[in-house]
Amino acid sequence: MITNTELENKGNLFPSKIVDFKKDVDQLYFYTDNDVILQLTVVRDSVIRFRYTTVGNFDNDFSYAITKYANKGYNKLEITGSDDHYLVITSKLKCVISKENLSVSIFDVKDDVLINKDEIGFHWEESYEFGGNIVKMSKVSNDGESYYGLGDKPNHLNLKGKRYTNWVTDSYAYGKETDPIYKTIPFYTGLHHGRAYGIFFDNTFQSYFDFANERRNVTSFWAQGGEMNYYFFYGPKMNDVVEGYTDLTGKPHQLPPMWALGFHQCKWSYFPEAKVKEITKTFRKLQIPCDAIYLDIDYMDGFRCFTWNKEYFPDPKRMVKELAEDGFKTVAIIDPGIKIDKEYRVFKEGLEKDYFCKRADGAYMKGKVWPGECYFPDYTNPEVREWWSGLFKELIEDIGVKGVWNDMNEPAVMEVPNKTFPDDVRHDYDGNPCSHRKAHNIYGMQMARATYQGLKKYAYPKRPFVITRAAYSGTQRYTSSWTGDNVATWDHLWIANIQAQRMAMSGFSFVGSDIGGFAEQPSGELFTRWIQLGIFHPFFRVHSSGDHGEQEPWTFDEDVTKIVRKFIEIRYQLLPYLYTAFWNYVDHGTPLLKSLVLYDQSDVQTHYRTDEFIFGEHILACPVQEPNAKGRRMYVPKGKWYNFWTDETVKGGKEMWVDADIDSMPIYIKEGAIIPKYPVQQYVGEKNIDQITLDVYYKEGVEDSVLFSDANDGYDYTKGRYSLRNFKLTGRSKELIINQHKEGKYITEYNTFKIVIHGLPFTIKEIEVDNQNISLEQLIQNGTHTIVVDKNFSELHLKE
Ligand code: GLC
Repeated sequence: MITNTELENKGNLFPSKIVDFKKDVDQLYFYTDNDVILQLTVVRDSVIRFRYTTVGNFDNDFSYAITKYANKGYNKLEITGSDDHYLVITSKLKCVISKENLSVSIFDVKDDVLINKDEIGFHWEESYEFGGNIVKMSKVSNDGESYYGLGDKPNHLNLKGKRYTNWVTDSYAYGKETDPIYKTIPFYTGLHHGRAYGIFFDNTFQSYFDFANERRNVTSFWAQGGEMNYYFFYGPKMNDVVEGYTDLTGKPHQLPPMWALGFHQCKWSYFPEAKVKEITKTFRKLQIPCDAIYLDIDYMDGFRCFTWNKEYFPDPKRMVKELAEDGFKTVAIIDPGIKIDKEYRVFKEGLEKDYFCKRADGAYMKGKVWPGECYFPDYTNPEVREWWSGLFKELIEDIGVKGVWNDMNEPAVMEVPNKTFPDDVRHDYDGNPCSHRKAHNIYGMQMARATYQGLKKYAYPKRPFVITRAAYSGTQRYTSSWTGDNVATWDHLWIANIQAQRMAMSGFSFVGSDIGGFAEQPSGELFTRWIQLGIFHPFFRVHSSGDHGEQEPWTFDEDVTKIVRKFIEIRYQLLPYLYTAFWNYVDHGTPLLKSLVLYDQSDVQTHYRTDEFIFGEHILACPVQEPNAKGRRMYVPKGKWYNFWTDETVKGGKEMWVDADIDSMPIYIKEGAIIPKYPVQQYVGEKNIDQITLDVYYKEGVEDSVLFSDANDGYDYTKGRYSLRNFKLTGRSKELIINQHKEGKYITEYNTFKIVIHGLPFTIKEIEVDNQNISLEQLIQNGTHTIVVDKNFSELHLKE
């Protein structure tokens, strides 16, 4: 990492001994003899920020990643000292800071177990070329420690033994070893001795993480400039670490409209209008549910953003309206590059207002993208963001487009070696002027933010929907994302699975891959297996480059169409379950997908698993990722699970073979779960849903489940007009009780629950609803374990 051999310089520099200490409410300052200051901020009892300067004072404290809505405040803060160290104690953590060299060790305050310890700790190297420092941190890597997180890295889930770079990069046809790719999320979770902690290195310069790669017992991170500035989160549960990080960098500002959780069909490009209609009509004809249809760059006039090719799309407003009447929401792409064209309104405005990025010596930042030579708005200027958001008025308010897809916002530049802006490009950085070295990693985030602001304004009273390719920590507040230009190979199915899980444990759950692969063409089998995985990804979209033939569910053969339809239908049935999980994510920061290690860190078998994951709280899924498979081996986590297809139960905690021919995949439901389901619809809102099915999976014991409902769009839910139903299932050998606790003012569309009981070990002889005996004939349908009850029941009691 760490030594620069090319330049004669001072090499690594280190803090000397602490000579002074100051406390300012929640901020503690430790001053060393050689002008280093450690500013330690107690954010919460389990969250501590460490920030270092080497010049005796700090720069303006500004971060795009941290949300103003982050929870702050602690129960306890005690500072004591001895001859050789300071002790900072909260109700969760004990921090020991060495007076000799400023090094930090962090302990669980309850039992004094060491969680994380500086190795060399903070050190730095002066940057000859750019000024400032290359800032470095090294930590001890503990025996058996594992590492997770870092956003979209396409390699093994467990980062141990690897080194990574963070530099948002357009990475067409990347592979497992490609690094870096599209996103920078400098947050990881460490797990050792059953306890998890997290580190978020909030530094937007190019940064690096080394997880015991260079040296077996050392993990380090460093950046090309800026401050050593990191947040430490303590679990000990991994889920709490991820929630803590998500709380700090932000949950999505609102729920997505429910339709955005449906199926999306995309290609580069569907045009002209007749082609778009042919696609949407075929979905309806073949009865394959679909909610969104995409317009890629060819809808524009010469790739000029906010224009239309009137030859292909003579009347976009009419087209979008007609699509909407058929249940399709139109999503349109918008890139950052603005074509240099004196006749083009957006270009003219940007130029007049001085909104485009410039080089260090004042020339415009000129770069080639799809439209040819372009200038690029400086989205790090709030005035530019405001202007950009206003550009969406016509597209959204007038034409009726429902979602916007931001692409190429790394920013990608063609035909240059580094694929992006040169380092010297200047940025406003919200009043903290800087070069592209510092702004690069957040450029795409700020574009997506400005786009989000536009959609929020003009889609009102509906909720916005945005997708972005580039992202930095915190981008999840504004937008969903996809994993960029992947390839139609089996390897990429594996990668897609990893990336969605990894993004979820990096605070960014609303993610999916280009299903089927963007480049090249999948076989029908690969496409089918990818759809099977895709139904469990929060963002569920087929996209392809279009160079290699068609990639719609019907372009392979009839069997593929049939199986794909069946799986998309499962997704539509699970919408209330997914929507509830999404609400939980928005409300608590709980990841929508949980890798097995996140689900059960106490089971060491999970630490190196990659394929299996939990969707929401109760569904275990494991995609088949090899050709010609009739099933696969998978690890079923501890506990009892129901096979989704057969209701057979298995006891987990072991690896097992699971049959899964091409029309199936391994899906299990946790015992005790109550899974809410919709009837199949062709699109969200197609049907008036007066009944929700509750699939109840018997358990001897207790289990909680939740159902969240609202109007599926709009902001009323933020004013209390939602319905939150907590179900508590209690199973005994001869009875099953479901208690319901209701909250919220929303009157749901549905009036009844159809309760389908799986795995009941006894025959129902008696049913009580809210302590009233109800005749069996009235409730039990078709001699099966199916009962219809009023949605507002408080207690349902089934007895032998
Ligand atoms: C980029 C995007 C891809 C899009 C294409 C054309 O390659 O990643 O999704 O289809 O540009 O706009």
